[in-house]
Amino acid sequence: MEEHCICQFVIFGATGDLSSRKLLPALYHLQCAGRMPEDMRIFAFGRRAWNREEWEEFLRGQLERFTEGYRPEHFRRFCRHFHYIQGELHEPASYAELVRVLTHKGSDRPDSTIFYLAIRPADFLPVIQQLSAAGFSQDSDCRIVIEKPFGEDLESAVQLNEHLHRHFREEQIYRIDHYLGKEIVQNLLVFRFANLPIETVWNRNYIDHVQITVAEDLGVENRAGYYDQAGALRDMLQNHLMQILTLVAMEPPPSLEADALRDEKVKVLRSIRSIPKIAIHAHALRAQYGPGTVDGKNVPGYQDEPGVTRNSVTETYVAVKFYIDNWRWRGVPFYLRTGKRMPAKTSSVAIRFRHTPQQLFQETPIERIEPNWILLSLETENLNIEIHVKEPGLEMKMRPLQLNASYRRDGEKELDAYEALLLDVMEGDRALFIRFDEVEWAWRVVDPILKTWSREMDYIITYPAGTWGPEEATRIMDKEDQYWRIVL
Ligand code: BG6
Repeated sequence: MEEHCICQFVIFGATGDLSSRKLLPALYHLQCAGRMPEDMRIFAFGRRAWNREEWEEFLRGQLERFTEGYRPEHFRRFCRHFHYIQGELHEPASYAELVRVLTHKGSDRPDSTIFYLAIRPADFLPVIQQLSAAGFSQDSDCRIVIEKPFGEDLESAVQLNEHLHRHFREEQIYRIDHYLGKEIVQNLLVFRFANLPIETVWNRNYIDHVQITVAEDLGVENRAGYYDQAGALRDMLQNHLMQILTLVAMEPPPSLEADALRDEKVKVLRSIRSIPKIAIHAHALRAQYGPGTVDGKNVPGYQDEPGVTRNSVTETYVAVKFYIDNWRWRGVPFYLRTGKRMPAKTSSVAIRFRHTPQQLFQETPIERIEPNWILLSLETENLNIEIHVKEPGLEMKMRPLQLNASYRRDGEKELDAYEALLLDVMEGDRALFIRFDEVEWAWRVVDPILKTWSREMDYIITYPAGTWGPEEATRIMDKEDQYWRIVL
């Protein structure tokens, strides 16, 4: 970023969970790395009637809790960027106050004002309307960052988009999916399109099936107000997992230009076979965590988490099977699963290859050859290719060999997804943000599942917290020899 670029950053929902866990730590790291402009002003908009000291106390607490490498001696410098604004999201007077502080005399005119909507999806629309009424709209130099889920189903997403476009130009809108800021997710493109041998086998002729897993050890934490309405399908699968799927399955784009990439991703989403109503249960399974043990600690079940409605059937785990009906993927199942309160935090793409056409070693002690795998761990940034080699010795015996390598060299610093994406917003680069047709097609794919589940309100399978989900999850798999692969 150019040194003299002046940027104002407004966080709606500054005292919320997303802000504490992701935004504030990311801004802190950018500051420490010298990537945040010295004169950047950050306005934390929250409901609580706090004075500056109280806000700073809160900020310190959250940084201590959630920021890796937090150093108290940096706190004062970081704090200088912040102003706390007490306000109500639905209250015009709060926006008048916001305008007043943003255009405070004596401060230079900003090149851009970024509004980050780290709030409940139900509040997106009112905030957009209030901002527009307060004079931030099409002609202004402001940018709006909208968190997922964008809408709660297809219809509401279309409506939300229409409303947004009444007030803002597409170039001002940054629909964020922080998984696209993860280094390893972008690395999928390099892995596939910079390595000829890989791309040659990346199709239905060689691949038996694909698994995409995002597992978390955390539970719902203090987000039941939002999560109990959303569930894992809306919260994770419709966005993060679908984005990973598009990168695994897309054709090479003509260039890396933002729209060239997005066009290819949309083609994948459009090619996903829609699931007929009667086949929903063969393709999708939901479950909820019960009490259990995670990391040696007893944890309550979802039903006993604070804020969860009684007898809620909200899913904290979902497993879905999709088919992509195009030349490359026809007939190859893509299994996606995500869950909370699993034994570990891990995300991965696991590619299983087909069996060799001939069981050449049948008459030897080897008997049967297991298929090869490529395992990409998004968490540990590891690439693992499993092949078979002969065991040294007289006998014809075989053993698996793991060609295992880390993407990151010692000493190479990890850039958090939010850090990367916040920098992009400041610099006006939209390549890693989502175009509306991506959102729309992803909703089209999951909508039939949501509709069916919304009619089945009296029962949900449970799994003990601290396990890899319900045993029934293999039900959606096509063949007996397919199983969920755990990649740590
Ligand atoms: C968010 C979801 O988008 O992603 C959360 O709303 C989830 O429920 C989080 O915990 C996981 O993100 P990460 O980067 O920690 O894998």
